[in-house]
Amino acid sequence: MSYELVRGTRDLLPDEVRRWRQIEEAFRAVAGRYNYREIRFPVLEHTELFTRGIGEATEVVGKQMFTFPDQKGRSLSLRPEGTASAVRAYLTAGLHINDPFQKWFYLGPMFRYEKPQKGRYRQFGQYGVEVFGSLEPSVDAEVIGLAWTLMTELGLRGLRLKLNSIGCAADRAQYHEVLRAHFAPSIGSMCTDCRRRLDENPLRILDCKEPVCQAFIAEAPGSADHLCADCSAHFAAVRAHLDRLELAYEIDPRLVRGLDYYTRTVFELVSAELGAQDALLGGGRYDGLVETLGGPPTPGIGFAGGTDRLALVLESKPMDEAQIDLFLAALGDDGRALALQLADALRRRGVRVDLDHRGRKLGKQLAEANRLNARTLLVVGDDEVAARRGRLKTMATGDEREVDLDAAALADALEGA
Ligand code: HAM
Repeated sequence: MSYELVRGTRDLLPDEVRRWRQIEEAFRAVAGRYNYREIRFPVLEHTELFTRGIGEATEVVGKQMFTFPDQKGRSLSLRPEGTASAVRAYLTAGLHINDPFQKWFYLGPMFRYEKPQKGRYRQFGQYGVEVFGSLEPSVDAEVIGLAWTLMTELGLRGLRLKLNSIGCAADRAQYHEVLRAHFAPSIGSMCTDCRRRLDENPLRILDCKEPVCQAFIAEAPGSADHLCADCSAHFAAVRAHLDRLELAYEIDPRLVRGLDYYTRTVFELVSAELGAQDALLGGGRYDGLVETLGGPPTPGIGFAGGTDRLALVLESKPMDEAQIDLFLAALGDDGRALALQLADALRRRGVRVDLDHRGRKLGKQLAEANRLNARTLLVVGDDEVAARRGRLKTMATGDEREVDLDAAALADALEGA
């Protein structure tokens, strides 16, 4: 019997994990500089959190959730995204009462039952931020700036920032009517999903990917032309902040995002290198979500990016070579016993050491030291065991020096090697 991966999931082997860690560490560092604090919430939640929070009419809730009953028949779902859980955590902790302004970041796996392809998986990683408790356009600009700084830090160029505003709930109700009027005459020629969306939520038509619908979508009126005075001023202020921060954006009048909680500012960072799945990261405001989920009116804004996609885009970029400080080539049982003892003592002192565990010939062990990009090499055989001395070789120069085979002496010698 052989076991296969669950479709849409994948293993990250050590080389790929190095890339993920590079992303995660850069994200943690950047988020820390902006003074966002890390939050961790469960992978499992009650299904209703997502149906209410994200919206029944969305693809994510309608088609993509991993939902199942628990032993007592309650419906649970694997989280398809982090925002609804973040809001739930905010309310569970009572922060809306005690400390409403919060800047959070998170990292972790999300689950969506999608058709797998390059850059699209059923289990995928997300890194994201959420800010609660401020309507100020400066927060919108800060959140977008954080995303941009992360990409710059990772060395990514040529990304495009798409920006739009979809207004408040009242604006959206009005925009729905505008869209219905626009699509109604052609709806017979559009896909069956869009026919349903026309009634349910015409905004969702704008992110339909079906080829037959594209021409009608391209001519649809933009949401930013249907904003009330407040939302219009908010959008203008966000743009002014972005201009001052020299963050170049393109207004995409039909960018609405795929989740129902958005209000006002929405944005995406796209990369040409990703092809069809070009969204590296997306987000926006959700000023009504805390209330929808049972809290007091509390504005919110955030974004999330796909770690898998970011890793794909970074694939061609070299990473710092992994290096070990010392490789101990061990010959014979006594040699290996001493090598293990030395390695252990050095590791406790913070030195990165590896040794031979396979009883291989010296030549093979030296090749292994090269493969591991060891900075120094020490052979430990019977002579070295007897004399308690050996020769520490600096690989880059070939220089060798005599050293006592005890951890303190070796650690000193490694400093200078
Ligand atoms: P989203 O646009 O659904 O937004 O997902 C954010 C990012 O997650 C996407 O831009 C993409 O990079 C990645 N992603 C989504 N689905 C997949 C998949 N199946 N495979 C690989 N990567 C994927 C949200 O999730 C919102 N919670 C973002 C947000 C936070 N809005 C406000 N705060």
